[in-house]
Amino acid sequence: MKTILVTGGAGFIGSNFVRHIFNKYPDHRIIVLDALTYAGSLDNIPAEIRDSERFEFWYGELNNLDLVSDLVERSDVVVHFAAETHVARSLYLNRKFFITDVLGTQSIANAILKSMQNIERFIHISTSEVYGTALYEPMDEQHPLNPTTPYAAAKAGADRLVYSYIVSYNIPGVIIRPFNNYGPHQHLEKLIPRFITSAILREPFTIHGDGSAARDWIYVEDTAEAVDRALHAPMEKVKGEVFNIGTGRSISVLEIARMIQREFGLDDSYLRFMDERYGQVQKHISSTDKAERILGFKPTTSFEEGLSKTIQWYKDNRQYWERQLPMRQVPVKRPDGSVVWY
Ligand SMILES: NC(=O)c1ccc[n+]([C@@H]2O[C@H](COP(=O)([O-])OP(=O)(O)OC[C@H]3O[C@@H](n4cnc5c(N)ncnc54)[C@H](O)[C@@H]3O)[C@@H](O)[C@H]2O)c1
Repeated sequence: MKTILVTGGAGFIGSNFVRHIFNKYPDHRIIVLDALTYAGSLDNIPAEIRDSERFEFWYGELNNLDLVSDLVERSDVVVHFAAETHVARSLYLNRKFFITDVLGTQSIANAILKSMQNIERFIHISTSEVYGTALYEPMDEQHPLNPTTPYAAAKAGADRLVYSYIVSYNIPGVIIRPFNNYGPHQHLEKLIPRFITSAILREPFTIHGDGSAARDWIYVEDTAEAVDRALHAPMEKVKGEVFNIGTGRSISVLEIARMIQREFGLDDSYLRFMDERYGQVQKHISSTDKAERILGFKPTTSFEEGLSKTIQWYKDNRQYWERQLPMRQVPVKRPDGSVVWY
């Protein structure tokens, strides 16, 4: 039996990863540590997993050093997803992002340092947002880090913190930088669920700027597979390495709005354009070369297929997301001190 500690396992990507590992590896035990913030929910973890003897849930904070040390000490592997994750929210409520994303990561890294004898591997989940707008395309792991929002800056801090612990203290770390994830169980504040649920509710989609900002969108189950590969690849191939996880295809916000509009038979009166977002990343596309070469990872879900599965999930799970409706819009403070809702 191998014990995996998953932080943030009640969130979007973390819960999809828990499901993936639980179903694929009957010899893996999973401990989830999650503070159940507005973004996390035990409903994201199926009852069949929650009730299993191979699963343990701990309600708790990354910055609770004592608890984190105790859980890390009981684990063989740590996969660290927990974070404050919403870019727009970080534009106003940014202090929490540094406390959770940077100091919370340090708390995990310090606990790993204390348990070096039992920790085989530490997978840190960073993000492609650390790169900022693409200076060249596709963006590989050598691309400069130019974070453009407090969220991205906090994640860049965490990413480099983990790297420094690998170099200074030889912790067995691997850094993963996923591009934009989408799929079932994503919070309504994020773009694709917001558009889909707006379409279901027959409400207009709000689009920042002209909608030309483009991203590399990866289906969440593909990300779970990529993290699984990083977890099980020979250590000498991955230790201290950074891996981008993306598809190599970029799609603009407006194109996505149009796909969802078509799917629901909505006309152009449903598209509402507003001011460009502060710190907007304009171009973002992943090089898939390193993940493919070293992890043997290639995403298997096309955007069209992933979007269609995601639309179906939101159609079938209205009860799940309806209670998130008051959190769908996010307050953002303009430089002049006024507050707008994104
Ligand atoms: N969603 C994306 O497109 C994307 C892309 C690249 C990287 N990432 C990264 O992947 C990870 C997971 O993202 P997500 O979209 O699933 O996020 P999410 O917001 O859905 O989930 C985050 C989880 O972390 C928990 N959490 C927050 N603060 C905590 C704390 N102080 N202590 C313990 N738990 C805490 C929350 O309760 C929640 O369950 C994050 O590190 C994020 O930066 C996300």
